[in-house]
Amino acid sequence: MLKIVQTKPYLDQKMGTAGIRKKSRIVMQENYIENFVQSIFNAIGGVAGQTFVLGGDGRFYNKIAIQKILKIAAANGMAKMIVGQNGYISTPASSCVLLKNKAQGGLVLSASHNPGGIDGDFGIKYATASGGQCSTAISDKIYENTKNITSYKIWDAPDVDLSQIGVQKLGNMEIEVIDPVVDYVQMMEKIFDFAAIKKLFADGFTFVFDAMNAVTGPYAKKIFEEILGADEGSVINAVPLEDFGGLHPDPNLIYASSLVRLMYSPSAPDFGAANDGDGDRNMILGRSFFVTPSDNIAILTDNYRYIPAYKSGIYGVAKSAATSTAVGRVAAALGIGYYEVPTGWKYFCNLMDSHRITFCGEESFGAGSSHIREKDGIWAVLFWLNIIAATGKSVEQITREHWLKYGRSYYVRHDYEGIDIEKANRLMADLEAKLPELAGKTFGSFTVSKAEPFVYNDPVDGSSTKNGLIVYFTDKSRIVYRLSGTGTNGATLRVYLERFDDKCFDEDVMQFLKELADVSRQIAEITERTAKEKPDVIT
Ligand code: G1P
Ligand code: ZN
Repeated sequence: MLKIVQTKPYLDQKMGTAGIRKKSRIVMQENYIENFVQSIFNAIGGVAGQTFVLGGDGRFYNKIAIQKILKIAAANGMAKMIVGQNGYISTPASSCVLLKNKAQGGLVLSASHNPGGIDGDFGIKYATASGGQCSTAISDKIYENTKNITSYKIWDAPDVDLSQIGVQKLGNMEIEVIDPVVDYVQMMEKIFDFAAIKKLFADGFTFVFDAMNAVTGPYAKKIFEEILGADEGSVINAVPLEDFGGLHPDPNLIYASSLVRLMYSPSAPDFGAANDGDGDRNMILGRSFFVTPSDNIAILTDNYRYIPAYKSGIYGVAKSAATSTAVGRVAAALGIGYYEVPTGWKYFCNLMDSHRITFCGEESFGAGSSHIREKDGIWAVLFWLNIIAATGKSVEQITREHWLKYGRSYYVRHDYEGIDIEKANRLMADLEAKLPELAGKTFGSFTVSKAEPFVYNDPVDGSSTKNGLIVYFTDKSRIVYRLSGTGTNGATLRVYLERFDDKCFDEDVMQFLKELADVSRQIAEITERTAKEKPDVIT
């Protein structure tokens, strides 16, 4: 039965880098989800007669939020909701299913790599018919609606059983429960040379994939173990858990530490990888070897010819401004288009839709291609396996040959977390104001060549976005400063450090970037303003 419920707005439902992301307890407030979802539907002119895709990374509150959303969708006249079995879908699989079914939209319940649980985080990402997250113009409209909402529509009915694949009805809405792994696997089989990767495993290649107790476990088991023949047990932490078993499902050197320890031990397999909570991030490791995400996108781009789906040519490549310039050198060598965009995958989507780029990547462990409109963790792993199968080279060999050819951008990100929001905003505003005076100034052995805010003018929709401040040095080093748009606790200042070298590729990263790190604190007065002598997290 259709019910109209009176509600009061929440004023904090503005989307950040990727949808809304909040502490679970905030999202659990009365009508919080209902308001947000109804506001999305209102902002896009209603969803009557439309088809959407729905699912999440399985974290705490996933089950409850799914039921609410199904009932709101039914009450708003949606024709069909395609839902991942048990309410699970990875972010890349959601984009895949959305595009395959030509759905009008999609909702992914995830706070990505943030911890889950009642004291963890929850989030919702909204994708449009393009398969990618909505533009800022739409998210602004949604935000306006959330501030003015007075009622929402909901179908008053018992909860829906999502455990069985098949079709059922909720009011007039059809609910199709699917196994998203099936569609996703089909897509990957069309892109990569599965036969070659199968042979690689059959010949004894050893492999470990850490699903971090999050959504990619079933995808990884199916693809790597069942189809490609990696040893049983190669996929670890393979069962999705509501609190990720206490893990922080962020695939980096800190949070995937047990995988990293294994890969740096004498019993390391040939290849190690991890994905994040919702399956869009990846980390790639060889034996005692780590591939920086900025190098990752550069290496994948340079090796596109080994992949069946790309071998006839790629359009171009893009990276976020904060990502190192490594992929820019590859684009120049290949003579393909090259774009720098603000942080957030949504900025790549227009470039993909308009065939300006095929690949894109971010320093934050994200890489992907125009096969979908989200970054894709398993895709990146398969890409590496395909290159290794085709070349017979190890992860380390491939990376070292890349440095020899293009030079190496030593790169690190410093996060200063939990800063008072006002203080953080002031730090950025004051730094921006003094950028023009920095040019020509010397800090230790670094001389500033140019310093300016990063402004992106989208060549497709003409929109303009300012995101972060960049200080360039005469030796090709760069420092990028920006505030995180995904944090849930105060402000996080991210400082991205990059220094180029084309002589020796074996410097210690931290040592090689130490002086630049000091300079980054000096220029932005980080210690004076935040009382932090060093970053909280270094990745
Ligand atoms: C972070 C990353 C960004 C990524 C986003 C969503 O956003 O830096 O590259 O697209 O998460 O995974 P931030 O917190 O920096 O705004
Ligand atoms: Zn993610």
